[in-house]
Amino acid sequence: MIRVLHFSDVHVDLPLSSLPWTTWLGKRAIGGLNHALRRRKHFVHAVDKLAALARFADAQHVDLALCTGDYTILGTLPELDLAARSIEPLTHRPLGFATVPGNHDVYLGDSVREQRFEKHFAKWMRSDRPDLTTDGPFPFVRLFGDSLAVIGVSSARPNPEPWRSSGRIPDLQIDGLRRAITDPEVRDRFVIVMTHYAPRLWNGRPDSITHGLENADALLETIASIPRGCLIHGHVHRRFSVRVPDVGPMLLGAGSTTQDGREGLWMIEVEDTRASAVPGLYREGAYVLDETGRLPLT
Ligand SMILES: [Fe+2]
Ligand SMILES: [Fe+2]
Repeated sequence: MIRVLHFSDVHVDLPLSSLPWTTWLGKRAIGGLNHALRRRKHFVHAVDKLAALARFADAQHVDLALCTGDYTILGTLPELDLAARSIEPLTHRPLGFATVPGNHDVYLGDSVREQRFEKHFAKWMRSDRPDLTTDGPFPFVRLFGDSLAVIGVSSARPNPEPWRSSGRIPDLQIDGLRRAITDPEVRDRFVIVMTHYAPRLWNGRPDSITHGLENADALLETIASIPRGCLIHGHVHRRFSVRVPDVGPMLLGAGSTTQDGREGLWMIEVEDTRASAVPGLYREGAYVLDETGRLPLT
């Protein structure tokens, strides 16, 4: 059995005074400060919780850890530095670690231009099948034993307008994903597709135009025929699972693993012919699994 820990949206906290002055240009000056001040108070324990998450991963014999982005609040280098340091113990699982960026990691054009996310995180977005990438490192494909494939696509982009935090998977990546899931080396495995944005909310409806995934339907249509698999995501800070009619893989949102009062995660267990997911929560300073919520995925 392979045990996969899915966590997301850890939004590490840094004193705003420690961020470079250029942080407060453009969108950050308008919406960013307000947003950061509002958000920060929910994440003051984020770094300590990541240490608790690493202890949990050890105790639970997690083989592989996956994070679906939003490591920071404002996509600055000091935040990304701190985030990379804080998740470090979680990246040393026996099968390693893989990730995709969230919208807060590529908050504005400067984060993308300076490739700040890639500076620390590119090594966790490498592919075992570089021939299947169509758009930079995406989609990356990781193959584990004979039973598991993980495919990462990026749905995060800068949103210069302060009122908008929507995402889109570039068409090139949708094409690449389509090819990857039908590849002979991938199609017979249990497939975990990972991206930041939620194609559907807990009630089965799409997220709003200003907060959701623009091409959610294209993503769902592409993954619909995966015979055994699931899609994992973050962005919506609430842990949930949802099935979409005519789409094989279940959607699993970890929510935010470190937001006070909302901490969520999933433990996905993959065996040769079966797979299931167990929700996790944070209680009295430690992460725990809620076995009563175990869901069959196949
Ligand atoms: Fe988030
Ligand atoms: Fe997000």
